[in-house]
Formats: sequence, structure tokens, C-alpha cells
Amino acid sequence: MSKPRLYSGMQPSADSLQIGNYIGALMQWRDLQESYDAFFSVVDLHALTQPNDPSELREKTRRTAAQYIAAGIEPAKSTLYVQSHVRAHAELAWVLSTITGFGEAGRMTQFKDKSARYGTDATNVGLFTYPVLMAADILLYQTDIVPVGDDQKQHVELTRDLAERFNSRFGEAFRVPKPVIQKDTARIYDLQNPTSKMSKSAESDAGVLWLLDDPSKSAKKVMRAVTDSEGVVRYDRDEKPGVSNLLVIYAALTGREITSIEDEYAGRGYGDFKKGLAEVVVSEFGPVRERALELLDDPAELDRVLAANAARAEEVADRTLGDVYDKLGL
Ligand code: ADP
Ligand code: NA
Repeated sequence: MSKPRLYSGMQPSADSLQIGNYIGALMQWRDLQESYDAFFSVVDLHALTQPNDPSELREKTRRTAAQYIAAGIEPAKSTLYVQSHVRAHAELAWVLSTITGFGEAGRMTQFKDKSARYGTDATNVGLFTYPVLMAADILLYQTDIVPVGDDQKQHVELTRDLAERFNSRFGEAFRVPKPVIQKDTARIYDLQNPTSKMSKSAESDAGVLWLLDDPSKSAKKVMRAVTDSEGVVRYDRDEKPGVSNLLVIYAALTGREITSIEDEYAGRGYGDFKKGLAEVVVSEFGPVRERALELLDDPAELDRVLAANAARAEEVADRTLGDVYDKLGL
């Protein structure tokens, strides 16, 4: 029997990923690729919804792909490719946009938040149809599961609705995917502002740990992380968001239970705890960074791997799109 399909992706929106992307997404992808036929994309078409310098976008796309591989996504096992290399994404997105209600798209909270923040004149139509492109990404591959953060759950619900709608109007073309929502304990917060999520698009990077940063720089950021005045290493998201966040990072990177880490640092100060975490961060990310830099040192080889993977993705995507066109009378 063939393995169930999995689809996920990330935008190439920065030169480096941050450790929230690593803990919340890449570590899970790395495990899931064993039991699923996994497709992981770098969604550069989605990135066009933000202003981009073209040569920088190309570089960020390459860097994001290199970090997937460095984090353990195996291009020989999973299909790791760049979204724009497979033309079917844009084509299916157009088709799906014609069965998406205007009001339905307007109810997407991510779009509502962004357009409220920037105003509709500064918001582009691509941002409005973003979830439709995401639905196309997922549906092209006859996906069974989509691992996503909580903020993307609504988009996967829309994807399911569109798949069911198309299937019932025109005949079965799509498998209806299920979201797998990331665990709360996999959510990483900003080290300086531990109630807002760590993000590669954060305004200040003082509280962001970058995957490609020099490990000594990350160690310093850990040592400067915001804590509290209690002086006890104890998990309590409400009362002690800073310390809890550090505990979550520690546990995620070592595979240990939070309680065992609390026990280890019982009766010791935050300085010791941070030093311990800094060592964990350096030993986990040092090799990942080195591997990513090695891959980036040989862009021709990286491009070759990405092209081969895009060809594999295209084979599956074109089959779905061909069936869709057929059913629509195109
Ligand atoms: P960013 O905010 O860094 O731009 P994205 O929104 O592009 O991140 O998300 C890419 C992937 O990384 C998603 O799967 C998302 O759930 C995960 N992710 C992003 N930030 C975090 C975080 N702080 N903690 C856990 N997972 C995260
Ligand atoms: Na993103």
C-alpha cells in the first residue's frame, strides 16, 4: 500500500528561518516524512503578496530550501521543491477562485487582520486570494494531511470546502485533506517579548533566534532573554511566559520532559539555566547552520536537486490539473 500524502510549505520571507519555524514545523516534517509521502514546498508565489526585490527573493528561496535540507528533510525521500517551478499551482488557483465566494474569502481572519492593519488600498488582491492559492497547493497533490500552525486552520477548512464543492459540482477530482494542528508546546515566543510569537518578520530581531546566525550570537540572545523576578525555573505560561518559553525550547531541542528540566535546575538561578539552554542551542544549530552554508556554497547542485524534485511534483500536479480541466470542459 502506498503511504498517505502530506503537504506543507513555508514562505521565503527572510534570509534565515527562525527557531520557531524549526521547532514548530521542520522538526515535525522531518519525523513525518518517514511515514508519509511528503511534499514540502518553498512558496515563492505566496511571497509575492509582500514587496520583494527580485534577486533577493531568488536568494531567500534558495536559502529556505537549503535550510529544509539542513534540518533533515531529505530530497531523495520527500519531494522538496519551489512552488513557482510547478505552473499548475497558479492555474489551479485561478480555477478555484471561480468557485470561491467573495464573502467567503473576505471572512478569512488573516486577510481581515492584514487589510485592517494596512488599509485596503495598501492591500493587494493577491493577499485576498492567498488562501485560494494555498488550497490549490494542497489539492494538486491529493493530500491527506496538512500540518499547520493554528493560524492556518481556517485556510485548510476553506480548502476542504472547495474540494467538496468542486467534487460535488463537477465530479471527484480532489481528495479532501485534514489539517493536523501543531501542538501548543511547539509554539515558540519572542525572547524579548514572550507573549508574541517568534517570527521571521518581527520588527526587532533582538528576541529572534535565527537558524543561520553564528551560534555565539544566539547564545548571547539566550543569555539576554526576558525572564521574571521569581528566580525559579518553573513552567507557567500565564505568570512566567519568558521562563516557560525557554523551557519549551529546551525540551523541544533535547526531547526531554519539561518537568525533568525543572528538576535539574531546582534551586539554581536563571543564569545557570540560560547557560544550559545556550549550550543546547549551540550544539543543535551549529551543525544545521554548517550544513546549510555548505549547500549554499554549491548553488548549481542545489538548483539541480530542486529541479529534479520539481519534476517529480509536476508529474503529480499535472495529473490532477488535467483531470480538473477535463471535468470543467477546458
Ligand atoms: P514566520 O512568522 O516566521 O514568518 P510563518 O508564518 O511563515 O512564520 O510560518 C512558517 C511555519 O513555521 C508554519 O508551519 C508555522 O506554524 C511555523 N511557525 C512560525 N513561527 C512559529 C513559532 N513562533 N513557533 C512555532 N511554530 C512557528
Ligand atoms: Na509564511
